[in-house]
Amino acid sequence: LPKFSFEKARVWKDASVKKLIIDALNKNQLLKRLELQQIKDMVECMYQRSFQKGDYVIKQGEPGNHLFVLADGQLDVFQQSKFLTKIAVWTAFGELAILYNCTRTASVRAVSQVKTWALDREVFQNIMRMTAETRREQY
Ligand code: CMP
Repeated sequence: LPKFSFEKARVWKDASVKKLIIDALNKNQLLKRLELQQIKDMVECMYQRSFQKGDYVIKQGEPGNHLFVLADGQLDVFQQSKFLTKIAVWTAFGELAILYNCTRTASVRAVSQVKTWALDREVFQNIMRMTAETRREQY
């Protein structure tokens, strides 16, 4: 396997956007337990993904390949076909399948044109691995 390059995975973004994404990740009960450096690395590697009205951003039961932060637009969460809730802007979602290696627990559907910041699962895993390796070098 080629070695993971953090530099290559980085996507330039404005400092104000980084702040909004960091706050969104830190608002999430599970993600806020990660180390600040891990959160910062994740933010550096997130990239923009847009969806059209009616698109499924996430489908319940599928494997999860991305973690998202909603930047603009409206998203609804469903289980089976039952509506659960709306996702607020600058909220993280899709974290469960990424953190727990489970299938998607719900569907997330765009009610309008939507803008998100996305992080690929492999990049997330590499960031976690990178921290573990740095720690090992320190001892
Ligand atoms: P994940 O299971 O990866 O994919 C679907 C996402 O929907 C899930 O992560 C959560 O981020 C979100 N989600 C699941 N259930 C709920 C719920 N009851 N309320 C709000 N968001 C939810």
